[in-house]
Amino acid sequence: MRAPAKRSEAICALLTAAGFHWSQLQVSRYAATNMGPSIEQAILKATHTLREAGIDAARQDAALLLGHTLGRDRTFLITRSQEPLSEEVGTTFAEFVARRAAGEPLQYITGHQAFFNLDFEVTRDVLIPRPETELLVEVALSLLSTNDLTPFLCDVGTGSGCIAISLLHEIKNATAIGIDVSPAVLRITTRNAERNAVSDRFQLVASDCFAALKPAPTFSMIVSNPPYVTETALLELQREVREYEPHLALAAGPDGLSIIRRLLREASDYLVDGGHFLFEMGFDQHEAVRTLIDKRVWEVLDFHRDLQGIHRIVSLRKR
Ligand SMILES: C[S@@+](CC[C@H](N)C(=O)[O-])C[C@H]1O[C@@H](n2cnc3c(N)ncnc32)[C@H](O)[C@@H]1O
Repeated sequence: MRAPAKRSEAICALLTAAGFHWSQLQVSRYAATNMGPSIEQAILKATHTLREAGIDAARQDAALLLGHTLGRDRTFLITRSQEPLSEEVGTTFAEFVARRAAGEPLQYITGHQAFFNLDFEVTRDVLIPRPETELLVEVALSLLSTNDLTPFLCDVGTGSGCIAISLLHEIKNATAIGIDVSPAVLRITTRNAERNAVSDRFQLVASDCFAALKPAPTFSMIVSNPPYVTETALLELQREVREYEPHLALAAGPDGLSIIRRLLREASDYLVDGGHFLFEMGFDQHEAVRTLIDKRVWEVLDFHRDLQGIHRIVSLRKR
């Protein structure tokens, strides 16, 4: 039974001698041991399975999952489309496709999500970073560039750490504290800080909002993408979100505003005078949030719209 493996090793050695790099040989090596469908055939079959399961971007997801299985990018799949897959790769790929077909988000299967040009690890403990949250980072960067305060940031409900880590990555003299109520979440945040080389400037605290911090005018900016979904809306969310993403990251009481209300009440105690407080809100919460802002404490700088024209981010300055 060892013979085929040895034969494939011999083929690899010959091809290596002929100038191929070992990594280019992986699929061919699999082919030499166990012939399976080609890359193209496997993607077509998976696309069909995912489409039948109602997945919108079926072909794209199929290709991404096969790329993940092989540890290869899109170019590899295109240029090697006729190469056969090994049985082992085929089995792993089929498992990934079945999970995706059952509704599991692609990012929990691959374990990654890009955000602000950085790579973040995601598990089912953390919310998958969303593109609209990049607007919060952009607004924060623009405000930080216009003020002279030494950047000391606080990210409440840090989750994967995507907001704080992106800011720390952009502003090399900034330091930050990331707060999350869940220690399981903070284990992922820690890994993302290491992955993106900012851990020496990022401290993590397990806390219910600011409860574990002493009230003192410390931070130059507080940012937050808090949970803001109402209990009713939670039941109506897309299956992928409702069944797979952590409810702790999404739900915030009957009107979805319980955490925002607390942050608006408490954040000023932790900000220096003139410091900024920025947070994300639900697509339909703009008017409700406006009424919650105490104008004696906060100067409203702006309600920022996302690419769809929806007010998503509010920026405030402590008076
Ligand atoms: C909407 S997610 C945001 C995650 C990440 N900042 C992002 O933008 O993708 C909200 C986060 O707040 C955390 N959280 C929920 N309730 C909290 C509380 N009372 N205090 C601190 N963090 C909380 C959740 O665990 C979750 O990680």
